Amino acid sequence: MNNLIKYTLFLLITTLLFSCKDDDKPTEQENQYSDIYDLPSTPFNYSNVDLPETFNSYIYSALDNTPNNNRITDEGATLGRVLFYDKELSFNRTISCSSCHKQEFGFADPVAKSEGFEGGHTRRNSMNIVNSGFYEPGKYFWDHRAATLEDQVIMPLQDGIEMGMTLELVTSRVTAKDYYKPLFKAAFNSEEVTTDKISKALAQFVRSIYSFNTKYDQGIKQTKNIFVDFPNYTDAENLGKRVFNGILTPESNGTCMFCHMGNENLRPDVAFDPNEVNQVLFVGLRADNIGLDADFRGTDGGVGEFTGQDSALGQFKTTSIRNIELTGPYMHDGRFETLEEVVEHYSTGVKAHPYLSNHMINGDGTPRNLNLSEDEKAGLVAFLKTLTDHTMTTDVKYSNPFVNQ
Ligand code: HEC
Ligand code: HEC
Repeated sequence: MNNLIKYTLFLLITTLLFSCKDDDKPTEQENQYSDIYDLPSTPFNYSNVDLPETFNSYIYSALDNTPNNNRITDEGATLGRVLFYDKELSFNRTISCSSCHKQEFGFADPVAKSEGFEGGHTRRNSMNIVNSGFYEPGKYFWDHRAATLEDQVIMPLQDGIEMGMTLELVTSRVTAKDYYKPLFKAAFNSEEVTTDKISKALAQFVRSIYSFNTKYDQGIKQTKNIFVDFPNYTDAENLGKRVFNGILTPESNGTCMFCHMGNENLRPDVAFDPNEVNQVLFVGLRADNIGLDADFRGTDGGVGEFTGQDSALGQFKTTSIRNIELTGPYMHDGRFETLEEVVEHYSTGVKAHPYLSNHMINGDGTPRNLNLSEDEKAGLVAFLKTLTDHTMTTDVKYSNPFVNQ
């Protein structure tokens, strides 16, 4: 080949290469803010995650609360991630969502009551937000007061203790930051900042936080059956799993799994098809009164306080218990420091209450304390610790993108 042809070919190929590159990567321009945030030129994959087959179609058809008008996109969740970590969103620019939802603690806060923008303390314990898009009722907060996740994510911004903003102020702060322009453009095809877009992007990011890589997930992948001992578990972990699933107690539907898995038909006495049930989420199906106190009036009435319904007094949301080892202290008020204390509550501490959950009442009407042996209690704690997901807690796509914050 003569040199001229070679040179022409070279030019042609490089032109083609570069023009393709420009077309395929509309977000390339983000790099102009590389001194502000560290984002990949092609966004991370949030929208099409390769979940294990145990996250089956039942989960998506029956439990997923994603609205049709806010499906996760890679660009939307990326914008949500930046908003989630941006201190500009609090009145005195001192805190962000991530101040109380810390990735390394499973997106919870290791203190009973979190500190807000001016040093005040939240009324309740910060909640982990993992797999929370798969909460079937679609309501958020311990007392269910947010009707959707899209409503929920803008409430902390306006909370007088948490971030102290108005929505107008949030919109003008975000508009004033040029580094948001390419992010809004990529996510919503326009640089214009609105509350609706902020709410949608934050909700996309929160819903994108999946956990599916734990010792439990490795076990269920092998057996496809929650009621079979897992080959990768220790004896203590398998014993704890049996307690959790209710096999050791006569009233099997009174034990942990019934409320905490997110599937009420999953019981040892009910035949199941592994493709038709959820065996992996560990997100509950409702708010319940689990007999933490004999009277919730005057302290925190939970759902009943919010709705004004006496029968819902003492009900609190059954949040995800994935990463529970990392998300203490526990319960809506952070009253228990350790998992041992949580287990002791279910073993001996359940108090009578007129609206105690049916699943925690014996045939004779007394509160059902499981009266577990020392081995069973230790096993249950060991089992709960198999729900820890170190991949999720270190995944950069969920981490702080800011270079200097
Ligand atoms: C000052 C600490 C603090 C900050 C800042 C904060 N949160 Fe929270 N978050 C909490 C607490 C405490 C709760 C539980 C409050 C309650 O139920 O009354 C909570 C609850 C939630 C929930 C509900 C989870 C569920 O399962 O129902 C979500 C989602 C959430 N926060 C997301 C966010 C987002 C998004 C931001 C930023 C816009 C944010 N939080 C800022 C402390 C905080
Ligand atoms: C009747 C339904 C029900 C049953 C049965 C049940 N739980 Fe719970 N669990 C809940 C609710 C509701 C909460 C939140 C209560 C609160 O904060 O006031 C909770 C809270 C928890 C928490 C703390 C969550 C957090 O983020 O702070 C753990 C851990 C837990 N349960 C484990 C268990 C174990 C282990 C068992 C079985 C021994 C069990 N649960 C049985 C409904 C139930």
